[in-house]
Order: sequence, then C-alpha cells, then structure tokens
Amino acid sequence: MELRDVNQVGVVGGGTMGFGIAINFALGGYSTVISDLSDEVLTRSIATIKSALNLFVEEELITRRQADDAGDRIKTTTDLAEVAKDSDFITEAIVERSRDKRELFNRLDKLCPRHTILASNTSGLVLSDFGSDVTRQDKLVITHYFTPPHIVPGVEVAKGPGTSDETYDITCDLMERSGKIPIRLRKELPGYLLNRLQDAMRGEALRLWAEGMASAEDIELGVVSTFGFRMPHEGPFRHYDLSGVWKWPEDIRSPRSIENEKIKNRLAEGTPWFIDPERFDEALEKRDREYIRRLKELYWPTL
Ligand SMILES: NC(=O)c1ccc[n+]([C@@H]2O[C@H](COP(=O)([O-])OP(=O)(O)OC[C@H]3O[C@@H](n4cnc5c(N)ncnc54)[C@H](O)[C@@H]3O)[C@@H](O)[C@H]2O)c1
Repeated sequence: MELRDVNQVGVVGGGTMGFGIAINFALGGYSTVISDLSDEVLTRSIATIKSALNLFVEEELITRRQADDAGDRIKTTTDLAEVAKDSDFITEAIVERSRDKRELFNRLDKLCPRHTILASNTSGLVLSDFGSDVTRQDKLVITHYFTPPHIVPGVEVAKGPGTSDETYDITCDLMERSGKIPIRLRKELPGYLLNRLQDAMRGEALRLWAEGMASAEDIELGVVSTFGFRMPHEGPFRHYDLSGVWKWPEDIRSPRSIENEKIKNRLAEGTPWFIDPERFDEALEKRDREYIRRLKELYWPTL
C-alpha cells in the first residue's frame, strides 16, 4: 500500500479532537467519515466544523470555496461498520480509556478491509496494551494531535511493537498531505514524548505554586514572557546552541547526572546541534529579528 491508495479516511469520535482531525483530512482532499455514538453528538461536530472552517476563511487561511469543498467532503454516521467498510485509514479519537480503545480496535480489526491502517490519537496509552488483540499488528500506529488539532501543526507519530515501516511511512506522508508536521518517535512510551515534556513543566509549576514560590498569575506570566516567549523560535536544543552553552569551559558545562553519557559525548564534541559555528552571528541576528517581531506584536507599547 502507498499514500496514493488512501482515498477515504475515517475518524471515530467526533468530540474535542475528532472534529478538528476530520477538518485536516478534508482540507487535504480526503473523503472523511466521522462516526460517534449518537446523532446528537455528530450534529454538534458538524456545527463546530462549519464554524472552524468559517474562521479559517475569515482569517484568510483558506478561500470560501476551499472551506465549502472541505465541508462537503465530511460525512457522518453512527454505524461503525459504515466507516470501516470503505476507509483506508481510520483515526480513533474516543475516550482515553484502555478498555474502550481495546474494544473499538478489536471491532475495527474485524470490520475493516485487511489493508486499512488503524491509528490512535491517545494522549498517553500504548498500542502494546490496548492494541494487543488486533491481528493486523503491522497496521497499527499512533498519531497524537495537539488541541486545537486543526490549527496546531505538529503531530507525534509513533510505532507500536508490530508497526511496519510501510504503515509508519504512509502515516507520516498522510500527516504532511493533510497539512501537519509529523514528529517521528522511534518507540512507544506511556505519555510519548511531548506530553512528558509538557507534564514535567506543569507538574513543577503546580508544585512551586503549592509551596508558595509565586502566585499562579506570576508563574503563568513568567513562563509566557520568558522561555515561552522564545519557544516559537527555539526548543531546548536550539536554545542550547543559541545561548552558547557549547562554548562554555568544560568544567561548567558538563551534565550533572552521570547516566547522561550521551549528553557528555555530545558536549565533548564541543559543537552546537543546529548551528554551523562559522555562521553563529548570522543565526543570532535571525533569532533576534524574530524575537523583535514577536516583541512588537505581543508586548511593545503602541507608539
Ligand atoms: N482533548 C485534548 O486536548 C486531547 C489532546 C490530544 C489527544 N487527546 C486524546 O484524544 C482522544 C479523544 O479526546 P477528546 O478530548 O476528543 O474527547 P471527547 O470526550 O471530547 O470526545 C470523545 C468522543 O468519542 C465518542 N466516543 C466515545 N466512545 C466511543 C465509541 N466507542 N465509538 C465512537 N465514539 C465514541 C464520544 O461520544 C465523544 O464524542 C482521547 O484519547 C484523548 O486522550 C485529547
């Protein structure tokens, strides 16, 4: 199977995530069928899809025509068999409960044609748990979107224990084809990658707040006006580069924990991750221009 064999996409669960996931596929040109437990939920999904597409038009991301075409590509049903029979790729976005996902995946495994890829939008559960009874282990994959899923570009794509390279590659290509940026994870891990990073920060913020370090308002302001301000341009690694840590004397830049052998080796090389040392000043200027644009947009007093 190849990406061009994907014609119809199914989305099971039309709630907070499902409606936006469906919009991505429909804007990517795919016939998209959403299924949920009741017509009432599906009517709500369609109304949310319409207003989300209208907002895209208002904000000039897409034309009226593109919005109407995408809307026309989305159909709904309460009958899982109807989604299953003709879909080449199905994304599950139902409740985050292992037994519900297990039951759904087992049903889809029986109902879908053999070639259909089954993806889960779980936030943190693993395929080796809820997907373990599925016979098509090679066709299982994780696509973890971030809310609002029709706007946030990145999607984590992770393999389960039996996911084939073919399934994984088609899934990453499908993400790109539907306007998303696949973040390729090399293994499954409860919480995957980005929620672990996000949860680590949130956990520490809540702990510091509970200990009376600062008010919730000041912690929030601190995050968005300091490293949060930088984040559209740099994550932890580019920050390592641009803050010049790699140029520090070895005795102060060594990682503290001894198990971080890989980081030590990396530091020993004495080079940044992304930036060519010869073009360091150029990279700094580019960064500063981007920051100034954000500063003007978000914080600078109007002159
Ligand atoms: N909300 C987020 O920010 C977020 C972000 C990333 C991932 N996720 C994950 O996405 C999944 C869905 O989360 P959500 O926030 O959209 O939940 P939600 O409650 O808003 O929507 C879930 C939908 O699934 C439907 N549903 C439940 N069981 C079903 C079944 N067996 N068959 C068909 N439909 C069923 C429900 O009626 C509901 O409409 C979860 O696994 C969640 O962890 C959520």
